[in-house]
Amino acid sequence: SAADKGGWSSFMAKEISEEPEALEATLLGRVHDGLVVLDEIEGGFPDDVLRGVDRIVLLGAGTAAYSGLLGKYAIEKWAGVPVEVELAHEFRYRDPVLSEHTLVASISQSGETMDTLMAVKYARERGARTLSICNTQGATIARESDAVLYTRAGPEVAVASTKAFTAQVVALYLFGLHLGRVRGALSDADSRGLVAELQALPAKLQEVLAQGGEVREMARQMSDTRSVLFLGRHVGYPVALEGALKLKELAYIHAEGFAAGELKHGPIALIEPGQRVFVVVPSPRDSNSLHPKVVSNIQEIRARGAYVLAVAEAGDVAVLPFADEVLRIPLAGPMFEPLLAVAPLQQFAMELAAAKGLDVDQPRNLAKSVTVE
Ligand code: G6P
Repeated sequence: SAADKGGWSSFMAKEISEEPEALEATLLGRVHDGLVVLDEIEGGFPDDVLRGVDRIVLLGAGTAAYSGLLGKYAIEKWAGVPVEVELAHEFRYRDPVLSEHTLVASISQSGETMDTLMAVKYARERGARTLSICNTQGATIARESDAVLYTRAGPEVAVASTKAFTAQVVALYLFGLHLGRVRGALSDADSRGLVAELQALPAKLQEVLAQGGEVREMARQMSDTRSVLFLGRHVGYPVALEGALKLKELAYIHAEGFAAGELKHGPIALIEPGQRVFVVVPSPRDSNSLHPKVVSNIQEIRARGAYVLAVAEAGDVAVLPFADEVLRIPLAGPMFEPLLAVAPLQQFAMELAAAKGLDVDQPRNLAKSVTVE
């Protein structure tokens, strides 16, 4: 049953292992003839309404807000609609500009987070259209919204979110692909290619998770570390933020995620000999050519004594001379790399917490669902 650990050492270990399934389940029935079809949002968002949307605001708290950041990259690229990501608790206290052409999409595993619920209600009162991306059937936020796109990660018990995050990113990507096609921003051929990438992810993620033993070894060696930094660029940036959040939540280690391009504008001052830094490295095949820029960031921090842990694509040899440890992810399109790169960081936080003898499923001071403001 969902309420037992099924032989795993923790619910979190079990839930990370279920990420490929969560991904697959969230795609199930939503792809027809190689294209995305989202029947369930038709009611609240018929195609003509989607064509009239001129701005999207993604709302969430904690991990859900970071999945929103990834949604922003995908939706803007595929559908050509401007997207903002807002922390739900900041949203309604700053007079956000909303109209019937604004689509406010909330992201919540529980569908009960009070900050997110209040933001959704506020958006509705101000005339915006509301979409809920939610993992819990019939949750309050889902009921308060014009339409729901359910993630199908299954029940998540561990306080720190893992498989729900993966499923949220997939749901946002599905929505971006749907919107892109409805609005004529994405050709059927391009759409099919992207859908095929999504469908290939569960098997690739399985490969990533199989390196769990390596990650455990790394974590054990770092069990007395006091501070870890995470760098990423483009879609690697939200991955860095999520990796840092997981480490704070689970292992009570000071951790910060930074955009790699921001390094020279401040964070590089933090680098001293021995500082542990995870770097999420974009594919060397990527056409934006961000790869050399991130490799040069690695050289800069290495020259100042950082201990570099790279998450890099299989076959990327450029990182080898400068990284102390390398975790590999299989080849995927640029937008899909985060779904592979985040898993080792989740595993790392879990293993480090376990190495410190902490309760992985119930970190101190945190609640699974925060139903007060
Ligand atoms: C709490 C949990 C986090 C979660 C956040 C949002 O802070 O500890 O893991 O990301 O709430 O929860 P939601 O259910 O709205 O996704």
